[in-house]
Amino acid sequence: MNRHPFTRTILKWFAAHGRELPWRGVNNPYAIWLSEVILQQTRIAQGTDYWTRFMQAFPTVQDLAAASQDQVMLLWQGLGYYSRARHLHEAARQIVAMGHFPNTLEKLLSLKGVGDYTAAAIGSMAFGLPVAAVDGNVFRVLARHFGLNTPINTTQGKRQFTDLAQRLLPADMPGTFNQALMDFGALQCTPTSPHCFDCPLADTCQAHAQGTTAQLPVKQKTIKRLTRHFTYVYLRCKGFTAIRQRPAGDIWQGLWEPYLIEEGSLPQWEGQYTLIKQGVKHVLTHRTIMADFYLFECVKHPQLPPQYIWINESDMGNYALPRLVERLLESFDY
Ligand code: ADE
Repeated sequence: MNRHPFTRTILKWFAAHGRELPWRGVNNPYAIWLSEVILQQTRIAQGTDYWTRFMQAFPTVQDLAAASQDQVMLLWQGLGYYSRARHLHEAARQIVAMGHFPNTLEKLLSLKGVGDYTAAAIGSMAFGLPVAAVDGNVFRVLARHFGLNTPINTTQGKRQFTDLAQRLLPADMPGTFNQALMDFGALQCTPTSPHCFDCPLADTCQAHAQGTTAQLPVKQKTIKRLTRHFTYVYLRCKGFTAIRQRPAGDIWQGLWEPYLIEEGSLPQWEGQYTLIKQGVKHVLTHRTIMADFYLFECVKHPQLPPQYIWINESDMGNYALPRLVERLLESFDY
C-alpha cells in the first residue's frame, strides 16, 4: 500500500490507542448514524449513555420512525440542541420511506440534520465510501502537523483542510482512518496541553518544530453583526406599485425598494395583506437583516410618504434593486 507516512502512523497509533466505542465494529448504519447525530454537540462519555438508551428503546430505524415525537424528545432530554432530536425523528421517517438505509453521499445529505461532516462520517464508517470526515479534531491535527495557518472557519480553510484529509485518506479503510484522526485529536493532539512528549508524529510535526501548537488551528474572529428588521410591503394598486430610492448615509444608497417598515407595524390601509415570506435572513458585512415580505392589494391608493413614487409594475425591471429585494420579489410573480 502506498500510504503517506502520516497515514501509516495514525493507523498504527489507532490500533494501539483507539477508544472502544459501542458503535465501532458494528456494521449497522442506523447505530452509526444515531451515534453521529448524538455526538454532533455532545462529549463522548455523555453521548454514549444516550446512544445506549436510544438503541434499547428503538433498536431499529423502523422503531424510531414509529415512535411519537414526545417519546423521542423525552429520551433526548438533557442533551440540548433539541432541533437535533426533531431532525433525527424526521430523518428516521425519511429513511423508512426510502425503503433502505441511504448508502451514497447524496442520499445521506438529503436526510434532515445531516451535513457534509455527518454524511462523510456515516458513509465512510457504514459503507466504506472513500470520503474524509473533517471535524474539529481533524482540523486541529492537520493544522498542527502540516503547519497550516489558514483560518478553519473560512471557505478557503475548509477546502484546504478537506482536500488534504482526502489525499491522506486510505481508500481501503476510510472509516477507520476518519475515526483514527478523531481519536488522535481527542486523546493525543488535544486542544490545550497536547501530549507532544510521547507523540508518534512529533518528529514530522511542523507546529512542534516551530513551537506553534498553542496557536494552531487559527480561527478567524467572527464580526459581531447587529440585526435590523425590515418589513417590505409590495403594493399592488391597479397595475401600479410604489418604490423609493434608498437615502444617503445608510446601506444600499441609491438603490430602489418597495414600501419599507423598519420600526412599527403594518399600516391600516384599505385592502388586503398577504404574507409572502417571513424571517428571511440576509447577511451583509456589518449587518444581518431579518426580512418579512407582504403583498398588499389596494382597494384605493394609500397616501404614502413623499419619497415614494408610483410606477407601472411592469417597469420594475428598470430600477436597480438590492439583492435582498430581488430575493423577495423572486418568490412571487410580480
Ligand atoms: N466523534 C464523532 N464521531 C466519532 C467517532 N466515530 N469516533 C470518535 N469521535 C467521534
